[in-house]
Amino acid sequence: MRLIQHKKEAYWFYRFLSIFYDDYVNPLFWTEHMRDQSLELGQLNNPDYKVIDVGSGTGFTTQGIVKQVKSTNVTCVDQSPHQLAKAKEKPDLHGCTFVEGDAENIPFPDNAFDRYVSAGSIEYWPHPLKGVQESYRVIKPGGVALLIGPLEPENGFARFMANAWMLFPKDKEYREWYEAAGFKNIKVRYIRPQWYRRKGEYGIAIAGVKPLTGTTYSQPTTTVEDEKGSNLQIFWRVLIGSLAGFIFIPIALLGYLGNAFRKNPRMPKQYQERLNMHQAIAMAAILGFIIFVLWLIFK
Ligand SMILES: C[S@@+](CC[C@H](N)C(=O)[O-])C[C@H]1O[C@@H](n2cnc3c(N)ncnc32)[C@H](O)[C@@H]1O
Repeated sequence: MRLIQHKKEAYWFYRFLSIFYDDYVNPLFWTEHMRDQSLELGQLNNPDYKVIDVGSGTGFTTQGIVKQVKSTNVTCVDQSPHQLAKAKEKPDLHGCTFVEGDAENIPFPDNAFDRYVSAGSIEYWPHPLKGVQESYRVIKPGGVALLIGPLEPENGFARFMANAWMLFPKDKEYREWYEAAGFKNIKVRYIRPQWYRRKGEYGIAIAGVKPLTGTTYSQPTTTVEDEKGSNLQIFWRVLIGSLAGFIFIPIALLGYLGNAFRKNPRMPKQYQERLNMHQAIAMAAILGFIIFVLWLIFK
């Protein structure tokens, strides 16, 4: 079903989500610890590298990148002007270049960057292999492309809701796309927030090297066609897809609550997950509302 794995739908989804993204939603699913663990695979070990962050959104991953690479060397590409506007406000990202553009048709010539990073964006790409080929095209031979994304949940209910919402690829699909695009020395790391305690994996970071000689792709001259939808279809896809996605918020909040009673002493202090003030207030309001409704029913 994957209702929001389309460009227009993703545009409208982020038109509204960008308002709550940084304070309420993102910290539940994509933490600093996960980000920093993933970025290690990207080999950003030279401050002079030219880096492109595709689907950079409000710049949470970019903030990890600029800890290692000069911000003036970092280019952020996203199809959502609303997400980019939030990133532009962040003082540590002031040197970065911000460009509206499509992951499946990156508005840069071949071999333009040393490193490519994309975190949590593939879920919305209608043609994920095309996006991976674009990552290969825009980096120099010898460069590294790092892609981070969710994995299809093992639990049947979670898998159904995830697949109604957007693309949750299988582990082997990520590897197949990287191999098909021509990457070598492919490395993978599994990542998860601390609240996620199930047996199956949660998310993946995959990185590969563009060989010095190998496949070449030409820059697309037109944007890859997406499935056409009427305004009404787009409206209901965004609505139902968002509802399916929002199911994961209480799941994560409950996980956080559980975690409050089982701190991981081995996790460095700066990575210990805690609800921020915005989330705590929202949670108190939701709990208050539920208690109020129960009181109305049973009084
Ligand atoms: C979950 S956010 C991730 C943002 C950021 N990378 C982070 O780490 O927080 C996904 C982002 O991908 C962007 N996106 C979705 N489809 C895209 C496409 N085809 N091309 C470029 N950006 C896209 C969305 O606008 C959104 O900002």
